[in-house]
Amino acid sequence: MMILGIETSCDETSIALLHDNNVVANQVYTQAIHSHYGGVVPEIASRAHVQKIDRLCETVLKELNISLAAIDLITVTDSPGLAGALLVGISFALGIHCGFSIPIIGVNHLEGHIASVTLENPQLHFPFLALVVSGGHTAIYRVDDFGSYSCLGQTIDDAAGEAFDKVGKLLGFPYPAGRAIEQEANKNSSQEPLSFPIARLCTQGIDFSFSGLKTAVKYFVEDHPKEYITENISRICDAFQTAVINSLTQNVAIAVKKTNITQIACVGGVACNNTLRKSLRSNFGERNVFFPAPSFCTDNAAMIAKAGKENYLRGIRRIPTMNPSGAL
Ligand code: KG4
Ligand code: ZN
Repeated sequence: MMILGIETSCDETSIALLHDNNVVANQVYTQAIHSHYGGVVPEIASRAHVQKIDRLCETVLKELNISLAAIDLITVTDSPGLAGALLVGISFALGIHCGFSIPIIGVNHLEGHIASVTLENPQLHFPFLALVVSGGHTAIYRVDDFGSYSCLGQTIDDAAGEAFDKVGKLLGFPYPAGRAIEQEANKNSSQEPLSFPIARLCTQGIDFSFSGLKTAVKYFVEDHPKEYITENISRICDAFQTAVINSLTQNVAIAVKKTNITQIACVGGVACNNTLRKSLRSNFGERNVFFPAPSFCTDNAAMIAKAGKENYLRGIRRIPTMNPSGAL
């Protein structure tokens, strides 16, 4: 079965080809222009997708010498995401669907992130817990099968990746700042203690909050001279990153206790973070924690192809309909 994956929900235009469970192509074009603005500008993102998507698809098919007639299923992200950006991918996918009479299925982006871990990791079995940590979302799901998810808790304000990006902006790093903060934190050798508070929520579920942490870093930066911040940048990054990781790890521990499920998948852009990977592995056991390869953590179309394929094989049919806030 040859599956075409299309992803345009935010600032990555991506086209993938999945042959059965093998990713034969996964081209991702990241729109660097947004770093000028310190965040994604929706209208610029939509226009950049329009300029890129058809040639990207053509290149992928040409490189593999595959014609559209060889595609068995079109999968496309239809929710959640930026309205205009989603529309570009959906319109492109529907055009191919109508022109070549190829079956099509809409895919939830978060479902794609969860499916990304199953492109590899055959040892991972249902049910498992999925910690989704990206620039737009932070949540823990119980995953009973493809297409069967229950949200156990989520952020009530900023997503973890968003906190990395906003704190990065405060500290002068370009957008997106997650990787740069991790690299800076790794340089910290100071013994002088520094910690930032993380909100403890009294909600019933297993929710997160990162906006107070971001404000704490903001006040710290404002309360100290510029030279002090520059000299202590790695210490600040380390303290901020530790606070985020502790919060994620603590909530996963509560989810494990509540559900008695011991296998954990950590997915989304923030799952690239090696300190987070180490924390989850040391707390829950090396063999119980699974991650996608870094190229499948950040936004990509291979994960959309995988989720769409599995849903389609389970009899799920969904004509793509743009839904910017579509929950899983
Ligand atoms: O999944 P993704 O590509 O896009 C969304 O669906 O949001 O995630 C992007 C997010 C950005 O916020 C970026 O700063 C963060 O992932 N990120 C990281 C790292 N690499 C990417 N955060 C922390 N540490 C990293 N190494
Ligand atoms: Zn994403």
